[in-house]
Amino acid sequence: MKKNPDLEVSIGEIKLKNPVMTASGTFGYASEFENLVDLNRLGAIIVKGLSIEPSKGNKPPRIVETPCGMLNAIGLENVGLEVFLQEKLPFLKTLTTPTFVNIYGKDIVEYAELASRIDDIEGISGIEVNISCPNIKAGGIAFGVDPELAFSVVKAVRESTAKTLIVKLSPNVTDITEIAKSVEEAGADSISLINTIAGMAVDIETRRPKLANIIGGLSGPAIKPVALRMVWQVVQKVKIPVIGVGGIMTSDDALEFLIAGAVAVQVGTANFINPNATVDIINGIEAFLIKNNIPKVTDIIGTLKT
Ligand SMILES: Cc1cc2nc3c(=O)[nH]c(=O)nc-3n(C[C@H](O)[C@H](O)[C@H](O)COP(=O)(O)O)c2cc1C
Repeated sequence: MKKNPDLEVSIGEIKLKNPVMTASGTFGYASEFENLVDLNRLGAIIVKGLSIEPSKGNKPPRIVETPCGMLNAIGLENVGLEVFLQEKLPFLKTLTTPTFVNIYGKDIVEYAELASRIDDIEGISGIEVNISCPNIKAGGIAFGVDPELAFSVVKAVRESTAKTLIVKLSPNVTDITEIAKSVEEAGADSISLINTIAGMAVDIETRRPKLANIIGGLSGPAIKPVALRMVWQVVQKVKIPVIGVGGIMTSDDALEFLIAGAVAVQVGTANFINPNATVDIINGIEAFLIKNNIPKVTDIIGTLKT
């Protein structure tokens, strides 16, 4: 009988069983999915964005369905570092799947402090830095929309931790490759993209915005072509591994990103529709490789013919 294809990929020093991760904020702290998903099958788990202090996030309504996607303005609600370490991490440590902690801060000092407090904690394989949030000290402009701000925050985090560092980019920019080059230069081990695309929706009867926050982030199938285009542009400009995120619902979607050059993918909105989407996608990638006689998933990465 033929051997199953090798699905292993590497992000920095971390080896993943397969290239499929959960996207931050769409899979809680994984324990919520314990009875629905074989969590040990996953390539990696990325938990909900964490800040030093707990955060209640924005007022409801915080989620609106849109054609082919959804808008969310959760506002980075989370349990805060201490509760995460005491109540969430012990479960994650029982898994064979590596955990990455997605972090954010209101300023560079807070990002660096959070990274240094995580640095020597066992059971956390790496950090994903969300740079899509506002820098309060710079008047609320997002770190991820300015190459110099992006460089500064990633450099500060890099100097605070030896853990594998993924930097997650915002798509709300003119030239994503400029930001990607900046964060690579600042010491990122990998880049994930994209975070949600800024959007809004209006209720015509009340003439009010459908989200209390007015503006939210668009995710789901609607954003896949944009994400794929940005991944394709970025892989040509950086040497570090790129992780594709945005509208991945099926293994065919994931394969598009791998062919375009992503070393791994993250699955977000799909988890709300099919909690087992990640495992279905892993099975689908494996079936595709078997069908096409491809022995290793790495043989397909970056094979786009142009
Ligand atoms: C409800 C919700 C919460 C999210 N929370 C976070 C977060 O805390 N940190 C982060 O970096 N991205 C967050 N994201 C963005 C996703 O991780 C992902 O980048 C985005 O949704 C695009 O992927 P998708 O189309 O597969 O959902 C969130 C997305 C959604 C829908």
